Amino acid sequence: MATLDNSTLLISGGSGSLGNALIEEIKKARPSYQFGFPKKVIIYSRNEYNQHLMMKKFEGVPWLRFRIGDVRDKDRLSWCCDKVDYVIHAAALKHIRMCEENPLEAVQTNIIGSSNIVDACMKNNVKRAVLVSTDKSPSPRNLYGATKFTAERLFAAANIYSKTCFRIIRYGNVVNSRGSVVEYFLKLKEQGIHEFPITDPNCTRFWMTLEQAAKAVLKHLTAEKAETLHIPRLPSMKITDVARAIDPECTFKFIGLQKSEKLHEELDDGYTSDTNTDWLTSEEFQKLLK
Ligand SMILES: NC(=O)c1ccc[n+]([C@@H]2O[C@H](COP(=O)([O-])OP(=O)(O)OC[C@H]3O[C@@H](n4cnc5c(N)ncnc54)[C@H](OP(=O)(O)O)[C@@H]3O)[C@@H](O)[C@H]2O)c1
Repeated sequence: MATLDNSTLLISGGSGSLGNALIEEIKKARPSYQFGFPKKVIIYSRNEYNQHLMMKKFEGVPWLRFRIGDVRDKDRLSWCCDKVDYVIHAAALKHIRMCEENPLEAVQTNIIGSSNIVDACMKNNVKRAVLVSTDKSPSPRNLYGATKFTAERLFAAANIYSKTCFRIIRYGNVVNSRGSVVEYFLKLKEQGIHEFPITDPNCTRFWMTLEQAAKAVLKHLTAEKAETLHIPRLPSMKITDVARAIDPECTFKFIGLQKSEKLHEELDDGYTSDTNTDWLTSEEFQKLLK
């Protein structure tokens, strides 16, 4: 396994849920940390306030740097990748509805932004870069999935003509990430609302925690030999069972699937959230929430 020892790592979208989890993870086990310990980690994202919050949260962490920038801004991105060894590309517009309603914005950030990351990595001789992708990408039903599918292709294709090693990790729903359905159900419960809107009684999804996601990303980034695309094995659960695990008293209001949503998600050909062999129990799901 390659390690991050003494390297510089840039995380695009580093002020988001995954970015915070990555820093928690890297902070954990110095000096015997399995993935090694970078000398510098650069958080690259647009919103000053989010970076300010993260700065406060990780106050005193000497190896953390904050750079305001947009992945659409090729020059700024390239400048920030100077002397960078590794890149984790997490910046994205990830809300299905936002992408549907602002299609060009989704294209600009998720596709052009990923292409700019590829260019910046190549120009600065970055050793390795990992794109964080999603189960919405295979056979996409919505623009979010289609843009991430395209970003995956851009990363994979760049390996043909680049010294930088480009990799992709593709995974399912992250339980405790910003804007997840779990966050929404927890809010309803907190407000004393016990009737949960559910798209379809049979709807299933893959589930993992932010900590698991962060570890999986770092493992794929540092693996000496790896397939370009890595798909971790994840457990599934019905959305109705997720709701019951959060609030055993809840009832359901079925609102129907949107055209942009799938009944079951797909991580790869034949690897779907309904035919999966690994299922979470209510108790196991509750543990993921802690
Ligand atoms: N959460 C999930 O369930 C899940 C599942 C599978 C895959 N993923 C993928 O995992 C990645 C990270 O997800 P997350 O949950 O951490 O998302 P998140 O919490 O929404 O964070 C997204 C980050 O991207 C930044 N960003 C957005 N547009 C940008 C731009 N144009 N330039 C630079 N930074 C930009 C945001 O900060 P600013 O707004 O301040 O720029 C934020 O730091 C995404 O690529 C997503 O597609 C997520």
